[in-house]
Amino acid sequence: MVDSWVNSAERIGSDLHLELTGPGGRRAALTRALREAVRSGRLAPGTRLPPYRSLAADLGVARNTVADAYAELVAEGWLTARQGSGTRVGERAEPLRPAARVPKKAPPRARGPRHNLAQGTPDASAFPRTAWLAAYRRALQQAPSEVFGPGDPAGRVELREALTEYLARARGVRTEPGRIVICSGFAHALRLLFGGGVLRGPLGVEAYGLGFHREILATAGVRTVPLPLDGHGAEVDRLGRERAVLLTPAHQFPTGGPLHAARRAAVIDWARARGGLVLEDDYDGEFRYDRKPVGAVQGLDPEHVIHMGSVSKSLSPAVRLGWMVLPERYVDAVLAVKGEREAWASVLDQLALADFVASGAYDRHVRRMRQRYRGRRDRLVAALAEHAPHIEATGIAAGLHAVLRLPPGTEASTVKAAVWRGVALDGLAAFRHPETDMAAADGIVVGYATPSEHAYGPALQALCGVLPPP
Ligand SMILES: Cc1ncc(COP(=O)(O)O)c(C=O)c1O
Repeated sequence: MVDSWVNSAERIGSDLHLELTGPGGRRAALTRALREAVRSGRLAPGTRLPPYRSLAADLGVARNTVADAYAELVAEGWLTARQGSGTRVGERAEPLRPAARVPKKAPPRARGPRHNLAQGTPDASAFPRTAWLAAYRRALQQAPSEVFGPGDPAGRVELREALTEYLARARGVRTEPGRIVICSGFAHALRLLFGGGVLRGPLGVEAYGLGFHREILATAGVRTVPLPLDGHGAEVDRLGRERAVLLTPAHQFPTGGPLHAARRAAVIDWARARGGLVLEDDYDGEFRYDRKPVGAVQGLDPEHVIHMGSVSKSLSPAVRLGWMVLPERYVDAVLAVKGEREAWASVLDQLALADFVASGAYDRHVRRMRQRYRGRRDRLVAALAEHAPHIEATGIAAGLHAVLRLPPGTEASTVKAAVWRGVALDGLAAFRHPETDMAAADGIVVGYATPSEHAYGPALQALCGVLPPP
């Protein structure tokens, strides 16, 4: 063993256990072995390494091999070299620490609920795999080579064109491809608009909504002002000094009513009079079962509404694609926040979605799912009529969830009973804005789209078993 180069406190030599194996020759193997010794903590920060000559002799390699390996690791920051004090392990070369605590056994509920009626996701078993694959294949075959370079931050023009046509036809949105910016979903749109400084608060919001979205806004420093809800939707006549208002006009989330025609007109009047902006979250606008869907508010005044949508409910939240339909004056500001090239929404997925929409596959899928979800909602209503006639599914026949109003004081115990019986669902309280003065009502939010077809019957049965008695 060669140990003349090191005092006993710094002894490393052969106890370094440097094994020169793997591809790329001896220099690459030595570099790898030393890097691994530092990374794993076997060589602590500050440890002095042997001179080239000693380690070379120790390992039976040429001096230059050691010198080159040291130089590479110095360049990478793992080692430092200073005249007179030799080569040492860098002070910042933090070893890999083991995970703080590795649970020995998965906790009993880690396998997930037996009956998943949590709102939020479409029936994952119904994802149109074949049609999506076909769209992807066509898109890739036809794509020019430039597609595989950096992407346009506005999104692929093929997708913006397809959406312009689709949104006009299905949602009454009036726009053109130059006013659409593609993003990776509604949550991303919120982050771009508020986190990126395009818009500022205070922002009017509905008294009930997704806490996750409120958190995004709070993180961006936006104060949200809750608007109470009544039978006509959000009380937009309460808007005052807010700069913008975020609404779910087609189907209030989660309580389930549409924004009344008079309120739709009133919120546009407010925006025009105050220079305000309406942010329209059209998260499930295609899913209406009792009539043709009411068109988007954006159609009333494209210069005062930002219309936002995504495929999270219609197709799958795994696709992570969404869009903002912007008034002309916001387009440049949003593009500036997105940066010089697309950094979020996969360009290839955008092309696949463009083909999926333009070929009519999206319409066919939405039609199929509309039928399926309508059937699910009807079965929920029928099950309540039979097993719990004192409990009503409220809101319009639309979307992927329903709110069941419960007798006063029974929400918390019902949610608890559901957890106990393996039924995933949420209480209304989970969606309530913490500062609203609106009277609370007891209820649960039931996501009837989530289970696969064969699992839905048993899930309904389990649900009826946890509902409070009359
Ligand atoms: C109220 C509401 N808005 C928007 C969305 C869509 O969110 P994202 O596009 O970020 O998945 C959802 C969930 O799908 C939602 O529940």
